[in-house]
Amino acid sequence: TTKIILDCDPGHDDALALMLALANPEIDLLAVTTSAGNQTPEKTLNNAMRLLTLMHHQEIPVAGGNRTPLLKPLETAGNVHGKSGLDGANLPDPDFAVQPLTAIELMAQTLRQSPTPVTLVVTGPMTNAALFLRVYPELKEKIEQIVYMGGAMGLGNWTPSVEFNIYVDPEAAKIVMNAGIPLVMAPLNVTHQAQILKPEIEAVAQIDNPVAHAFYGLLNFFERYHEAPKWGFKGAPLHDPCTITWLIHPEWFTSERMNVDVETAGELTRGETVCDYYELTGKPKNTEVLLGIQREKFIQFIMDSLRTFD
Ligand code: BDR
Ligand code: CA
Repeated sequence: TTKIILDCDPGHDDALALMLALANPEIDLLAVTTSAGNQTPEKTLNNAMRLLTLMHHQEIPVAGGNRTPLLKPLETAGNVHGKSGLDGANLPDPDFAVQPLTAIELMAQTLRQSPTPVTLVVTGPMTNAALFLRVYPELKEKIEQIVYMGGAMGLGNWTPSVEFNIYVDPEAAKIVMNAGIPLVMAPLNVTHQAQILKPEIEAVAQIDNPVAHAFYGLLNFFERYHEAPKWGFKGAPLHDPCTITWLIHPEWFTSERMNVDVETAGELTRGETVCDYYELTGKPKNTEVLLGIQREKFIQFIMDSLRTFD
């Protein structure tokens, strides 16, 4: 099994990543921490706890993270994820307590208690991960790898060249990418292939358990934002679940190793992930960049995972 900490900003696709981590025994989810991103830090924390309540995993320790990005003011994505950050389903109120710790304190405690290194999965802005590395450098070696959804090679979904997670906190992303920890990146190039098509969303409605019912509502809401013809989607791109899927089924992906860094000073491109595909810089290949996914297997995996709940 792969032991992970999930640092997320739920978020519809974060919710699916959490669901995959809970549904599959190959993943041992040690803790959930939340970041400010898709919605305010209060809302993303509450959403993570609502999801764990829905999926009956109140035993997983949860802590809320930094309230703002390191340098920039917080910008949220209510246009994509709604007012709550998880619009589209009636989720239960949390029925358990948040840890009396900050996100980075919970990360530190979790790593200290684990006899073996732990994978950090980041599906929101990298604020918590960067702060963690700055505050607890002695625990760096307890992080096996960081698997993140963010950035792109030559695409943007928030500005012409910048993906949302990196856009929110580019300085944090720069710290993480230059930390010397093995990195696996799920950029827009792969997550835009990881689409769930409308008929497949309808198939979720046929899965008869409360978790699947909630996700049917969430997927319908999430799909609407992506209907605008400009995107050219046939459904909704499921960004964040690519991370957990890669941990369990790396054989469904194609990837290339290269140096990835972040532009933090650009006039038009602050937050762009600069991917050295042709090895022009000679800088270390710090990142395995996921570039292709077997879409149908991925969607089947999501369906099968939703079926495991009762
Ligand atoms: C990323 O931004 C968020 O809206 C999603 O949850 C995902 O992590 C996609 O750009
Ligand atoms: Ca996210």
